[in-house]
Amino acid sequence: MKTTIAITGSAGQLGSELARQLGSRAVQLSRAHINLASDASILDALGEIRPAILINCAAYTAVDKAESDAEACFRANAEAVATMTGYCRERNIRLVQLSTDYVFDDYAADNAAGSQRPLDEQTPASPRGIYAQSKLQGEIAAAATPENLIVRTCGLYGGGPTMRNFVETMIRLAATNPELRVVDDQRCTPSYCVDVAAAVLRLIEQEATGLYHVTNRESTTWFELAQTLFSLTRKPTVVQPISTAEYGAAAPRPAYSVLSLEKYSACVQREMPSWRNALERYLNDRKLA
Ligand SMILES: NC(=O)c1ccc[n+]([C@@H]2O[C@H](COP(=O)([O-])OP(=O)(O)OC[C@H]3O[C@@H](n4cnc5c(N)ncnc54)[C@H](OP(=O)(O)O)[C@@H]3O)[C@@H](O)[C@H]2O)c1
Repeated sequence: MKTTIAITGSAGQLGSELARQLGSRAVQLSRAHINLASDASILDALGEIRPAILINCAAYTAVDKAESDAEACFRANAEAVATMTGYCRERNIRLVQLSTDYVFDDYAADNAAGSQRPLDEQTPASPRGIYAQSKLQGEIAAAATPENLIVRTCGLYGGGPTMRNFVETMIRLAATNPELRVVDDQRCTPSYCVDVAAAVLRLIEQEATGLYHVTNRESTTWFELAQTLFSLTRKPTVVQPISTAEYGAAAPRPAYSVLSLEKYSACVQREMPSWRNALERYLNDRKLA
């Protein structure tokens, strides 16, 4: 029998890529089908579908807006996850909850010292900012059922029709700006949704439970990523490095949030592609699309 996998946030970046890779096994739940703001909406939608697995990609992801909209952010990213967890536990449904590298905001010294020690699943979380705190609460809610899978990822781009990501923003801005100022003091691993979705499905296949980190391999800064992007696309855009403080976003961002992939690789017996390789493939796929 075909396993039905329900995907919330199916119009978003990762949700739409998961749906694409799953094909007819996926039941897509966009905001029109399930509203994280309402427990009744969540319970009704899940009751109709009765999936074997629920992948929760829906989230309040407007990181800066969340600073002045905490209630809605916690409702979507924490309380709604608790509701899904309770529902799934009662019906033996496996919940896969997506989370973020932003739960780590206390490891800047690793970056400054150049020690490059990626943060593993045992590293204590230290979220700053409303979005980061709400996502950690969502992880805690999902972890109340040990059989659930929680996947932290980072800097997503390249899933579905939405163009709300760093790579697309750079491409758009470069069309009208000869010079761009880009933050160079946040080290992390931007990740291609195609690779992250495939990795999530591999973990599901392996019946992995608990917490896993999944990103592309190796690390970079947004400045370096922008430089690489314009070099690969042969754009003359000049990129100037600036600090996080100079950029002045409303929400804090971790200075070092490179995630260790050791647990993932040991589980599925394969390596994630590097961020450079992923970016090259994305640009190629984008040209073909
Ligand atoms: N984007 C990143 O760089 C990043 C990094 C690390 C972790 N993550 C995590 O990875 C997961 C997927 O991220 P993503 O980049 O795919 O996000 P995304 O593109 O912003 O998609 C999120 C989806 O959630 C839906 N949504 C938001 N509020 C909702 C509500 N109240 N009810 C129902 N649906 C709602 C949105 O619907 P609308 O389209 O209608 O707004 C959107 O389709 C999230 O858990 C996110 O926290 C993302």
